[in-house]
Formats: sequence, C-alpha cells, structure tokens
Amino acid sequence: MEKLVITGATPLKGEVTVHGAKNSAIAILPATLLCNGICTLNNVPNIIDVRLSCQILEQLGSKISWVGSNTLVIDNRNVNKTHAPLDLTSKFRASYYLIGAMLGRSKEIEVGLPGGCNLGARPIDQHIKGFAALGATVNLSQGKINVKANKLVGTNIYLDVVSVGATINVLLASVFAEGITTIDNVAKEPHVVDVANFLNSLGADIRGAGTDLIKINGVKSLKNNITYSIVPDQIEAGTYMLAAIATKGDLLIKNCIPEHLDSLTSKILEIGGNVECFDDTIHVWYTKRPNKTIVKTLPYPGFPTDLQPQMGVVLSLASGTSVINESIWDSRFQYTAELNKMGANIIVQGKSAIFEGVENLSGAPVYATDLRAGAALVIAGMAANGVTEVFNLNHIDRGYEKIEEKFASLGAKIKRVS
Ligand code: EPZ
Repeated sequence: MEKLVITGATPLKGEVTVHGAKNSAIAILPATLLCNGICTLNNVPNIIDVRLSCQILEQLGSKISWVGSNTLVIDNRNVNKTHAPLDLTSKFRASYYLIGAMLGRSKEIEVGLPGGCNLGARPIDQHIKGFAALGATVNLSQGKINVKANKLVGTNIYLDVVSVGATINVLLASVFAEGITTIDNVAKEPHVVDVANFLNSLGADIRGAGTDLIKINGVKSLKNNITYSIVPDQIEAGTYMLAAIATKGDLLIKNCIPEHLDSLTSKILEIGGNVECFDDTIHVWYTKRPNKTIVKTLPYPGFPTDLQPQMGVVLSLASGTSVINESIWDSRFQYTAELNKMGANIIVQGKSAIFEGVENLSGAPVYATDLRAGAALVIAGMAANGVTEVFNLNHIDRGYEKIEEKFASLGAKIKRVS
C-alpha cells in the first residue's frame, strides 16, 4: 500500500501551474462520442479518472492516444458498441455521462449504475427525468441502466435540484434532439460552461451555459475534427490557495481563471489572508493567523463543496470558533475525524461542522476518505509539526496529477513510499 510521508511544518513558497479541470475532462471525453471523427484535447490532466474514462471509451471502440503528457487524440470513427463494461463503469461515478453522449450518438446505451460514493447518496433521478422528457425509455436492473430512444425531441426540462451531472448529461442528450430544448435551474460551474463551449466549437447550438437556463437548438450533425483546450481546474487552484494560508506560505498560482474563484478569494480576504488576482494568475500569501468565519457550500458561484475539506484545515488553525455548513452532500465531513487525530478540535453536527481553532496540528497517520479529503490531509500534514502519513492515495490520484511532486517543488518535505 502506498502512502505519502510528510514532515511539517513547512511554509509553501514559489510558483505552481494548475492543470486542466478534472470535472471538465471527464465530461468532455464522453462528449467526444457526439463527434464521429477525431478530437484533439489539450490541457488534459493525466489522472486516474481521465485514464479510466479513456479505457471505457476504448471498450466502446474509440482509438485514444496521449501526445506528450497532457494532450489526448480521440478517434471515434469506429465506435460501434452500446454496452459499456460493467466492472469499469460501476466503479466510476462520471461514467453516467456515457448515457447522454451515446443517446445522442446511437440512441442506445447500457452502463453500470454509478457506485454510491463516500459523500453520501449519489442519485441520478434528475438525469433520468431529462432523458425521459426527451423521449428515451430507461430501464434499471441488476446494477445496470439501459437507455434507448427511437428519436429525441426537444422539450422544456426543469431540474428539481441544481446538479452538475444532470445538467451536463441532459445537455449531451439534447444536442441532436429535434427542435428546441430548454433546461432550467441548471448548474453554472465552469466545467458546465466548458462542455458547452466544446460542443459549440464542434458546431452545436447551445446558448446560456453559465446562467440558470440553457437553450439548445438541435442540429443534424457536428464537425468531424476539432482541437480544444480544457479549462483550468479551479478546484486545484483553490486547493493551492488554501494550502498557502494553512502552511503560512506565499504562492503564485499560474494558468488559472481568477474569476472562477471569487467565492474563495472573498473568504480568504475575510479571514485575514492576502490575495491578488492577475489575468491568469493568483498570488496568495499569509501574514497572520486566520480569523474565524462561517462557510456555507453552495452551487457555483457559491463556495464550492469541493474546497470544503481544504477550508476545514485552515479553520482548524484559525482563532475562535468557525462553522462549515455542507449543503450539497450528506456525508462530506469524514476528514474531520482524521484532523482530530492531528490535534484539531472539530465537532460534526449533521450537515454542519464546528471548528474550535487550535494553534498547531501535530503529525499522525491519517486515511483519505475521498479525493478532496485526501488533499486536505496533505495540506494538514505540511502545516503540522512532525511526521504525517497519508494512506488511500488512490483517492488523491483520481484528481490531482503528481501532487507530491508539485508540493515538493514548493518546499514541502513530502515523498511517496510504497
Ligand atoms: C459533480 O458531482 C462533481 N463531480 C463533484 O466533484 C462535485 O462535488 C459536485 O458536482 C457538486 O459540485 C464531477 O463533476 C465528476 P451534482 P455530481 O449532481 O455531478 C443531488 C470532486 O471532488 N442530485 O451536482 O455527481 C446530489 O445528491 C467531486 O471532484 C440529485 O438529487 O454532483 C447532490 O446533493 C466530488 N439527483 C446535489 O444534487 C440527481 O439526479 C449535487 O449533485 C443528481 C444530483
């Protein structure tokens, strides 16, 4: 079993470049199925979830190759299967994007139902509502979901819950639907906009991505050749911003879009951190112990749930009592038990966690429970006095490319040990 061995406390200092957005890449990869040609994708993060997406597409008949470390060439001219391998798709949440994409391409798909993740229940009822509204029939049995349609006809869809996955999936299914589709109460995350931009660059007709209502005018076909660059990962950028404050450091975070992090920037300024934004770079530095605050996670542009555990590390060390209210997921505070092993003083009450700030954390063996919890524990290890061992690295490697190399280049004493 691999682990990260981290010796703190070390302030992070220097420059770091953000990779392409995981949650955009793992949606755009299946979205390429709507193109019966060759898609070249730049700025693709080389992470487990992307490599798994490629494996699933190859099982459907895609020919995929890496050009250099972050460019993918995807050739979908020979995609001829409509059943994705259960063992791969049932493990990987975002495999549900194959449904919207293959409905558009072949009007039939069968995939394994996405496993419940350790964030609590992960329903896809809103995805199914959208597919059915467009005219598809949906059958769930033996852990698989089979969706097929004779034809897809545009209609008005209102999502009962603001859902990134349902927004993107219904968008994919509607690209070739006859007539106009509107999807109301949609998610507005940067990766939702990135998927719409990718599809429009292929010749789709999608308006309103990034607002509460997206309107799609169905087209007959898309171009069969495209080169597209994935949007920078605002969650990776935010992870470094919070790492700078937690470790009393000073970081220049490059290749990001500062506007995508307005909610985090305002929170860091509110607690006494320093942030300066430039065109594609954010400068974050620590000058004094953070003050307490209250954080509520919300759909974009609210405070992102995917930065909640990393913020929890900063609030563990802040002066006074802070509260985080997690409004998106039922169970996203498992990391607090690990932080308490390091000397934090956190109490979880339902969908809220109460942080009694402490002066210092101390190193301990801790276990990542999900991707962002893992990143938070790495940050805590760099901020803590002594040695921290972080286990369950598969979670971290799903969403962060070479996390220990990047932090080591910023002065962290961190190494991966088998
Ligand atoms: C995406 O998950 C991200 N994953 C998550 O990031 C992120 O936490 C989440 O969006 C919210 O921003 C990917 O993009 C691969 P949702 P998704 O559908 O699409 C409920 C990470 O760390 N809901 O926006 O699965 C759901 O239970 C990961 O990168 C329904 O009720 O999230 C949740 O409470 C973790 N019915 C809320 O909506 C549905 O049909 C938001 O879920 C769908 C969702």
